[in-house]
Amino acid sequence: MSVSTWPHIAPEGAYQPAVTIVGGRPLTGRVRVPGDKSVSHRALLLAARADGTSVLRGLSGGDDVRRTALAMSAVGAGVEADGPTPDGVRVLGGPARLHEPEGLLDLGNSGTGMRLLAGWLAAFPWFAVLHGDEYLARRPMDRIAVPLRRMGATVDGRHGGRLPPLAIRGGGLTGIDYTLPVDSAQVKGAVLLAGVGAKGPTTVRESAPVRAHTEELLALAGARVELADGGASVTVHPGPLRPIDLTVPGDPSQAAFWLVAGSIVPGSDLTVEGVYVGRARTGFLDVLLRMGADLEVTHRDAMTADVRVRGSDLVATDVCGAEVPGLIDEIPVLAVAAAHARGVTTFADAAELAVKETDRIAATTAMVAAFGGRVEPRADGLVVIGDAHSTPAEVDSGGDHRIAMAAAVAALGANGASRVRGWGAVATSYPGFIADLEALQR
Ligand code: S3P
Repeated sequence: MSVSTWPHIAPEGAYQPAVTIVGGRPLTGRVRVPGDKSVSHRALLLAARADGTSVLRGLSGGDDVRRTALAMSAVGAGVEADGPTPDGVRVLGGPARLHEPEGLLDLGNSGTGMRLLAGWLAAFPWFAVLHGDEYLARRPMDRIAVPLRRMGATVDGRHGGRLPPLAIRGGGLTGIDYTLPVDSAQVKGAVLLAGVGAKGPTTVRESAPVRAHTEELLALAGARVELADGGASVTVHPGPLRPIDLTVPGDPSQAAFWLVAGSIVPGSDLTVEGVYVGRARTGFLDVLLRMGADLEVTHRDAMTADVRVRGSDLVATDVCGAEVPGLIDEIPVLAVAAAHARGVTTFADAAELAVKETDRIAATTAMVAAFGGRVEPRADGLVVIGDAHSTPAEVDSGGDHRIAMAAAVAALGANGASRVRGWGAVATSYPGFIADLEALQR
């Protein structure tokens, strides 16, 4: 078995269990967020399958992506550090190197990792078991198990095959035409990745736009990919992949924390550099613009932009319908923005929030309320009655990285010192958050 030499992540325990954040001080300067997490997972999966050596720069520095790299290493890909920065890797891939994993594959906290990997593995005639931490153990997997079974894989798990750990016996797949029952890019990704190794074409149809990274990267790796209905229907044809050379763009979901912080802290003027602005990832920018945020988006190319924000007064808006899948991860921090806005903001059609790393309807409600916000949970979202006086608070992440960082932003919007416990959760996606905050507050 090859061993990953990618030394990337601080060891467990390197993160503070709690952080103190002093709010009310303007944030200024320029910041580079980690490489996009969704792109990083997929780039590693495709590079491992491609025949030859891929070079990936700017990968997400979080534990989630490291788990995917380790899984690729466990099935025989070489994942080696490359270049002067710790976020660069060389991946030695190709079917001839790959083999059934000997041990269990541990995806930690990563729902994206588990679901995409399930699809990726289903294409191979192997047996594999995927497990994760106590949070991942509660996340629904039937959404990928159902289409993968339809393609011919055997997928089992706890609770009648619906919860992790997942046991997968793959191989001998046939392509399907699948309409997504939940608007999920993870499901689209899992089915398309399985489709690369199936007999005949595989089509996935969506009813609301979800992120397009799987098809973008499949095309980059030389797969035959056809888009129809403005990208709402994607077909992949089976075939070999070629190595990729990729610089992963900045993660818009991480940029959202700084852009909300820059909006709500008076006197702020900050720029997030090199953010991915492709399909179904910039919905939160539209929401912030509707709220009156002072944003300036300067494209570097079609897919990346620098985004500048200056502090401004915000007004309420409604967030619902087809725009929700494209900003689902940003709702906790948008709720913080809503608490600082004049008027009542409603987040609806977002029941999916309840099955993320934690129940984010409950967690966001509790977090916003702790900082003095007026907020009510709904079955499919939440209602925030804005313009309440924001007060420093002590809150717990509940083990959810996005709740931890949204709480940090709420703390920045409150005059005085707040404390966020359970801070170690940010290790999954943004280990350098506090270092970046310190640089912006300097
Ligand atoms: C992701 C898709 C989204 C998102 C997650 C990453 C992806 O989940 O919440 O953080 O990389 O495909 P769903 O596909 O379940 O909506």
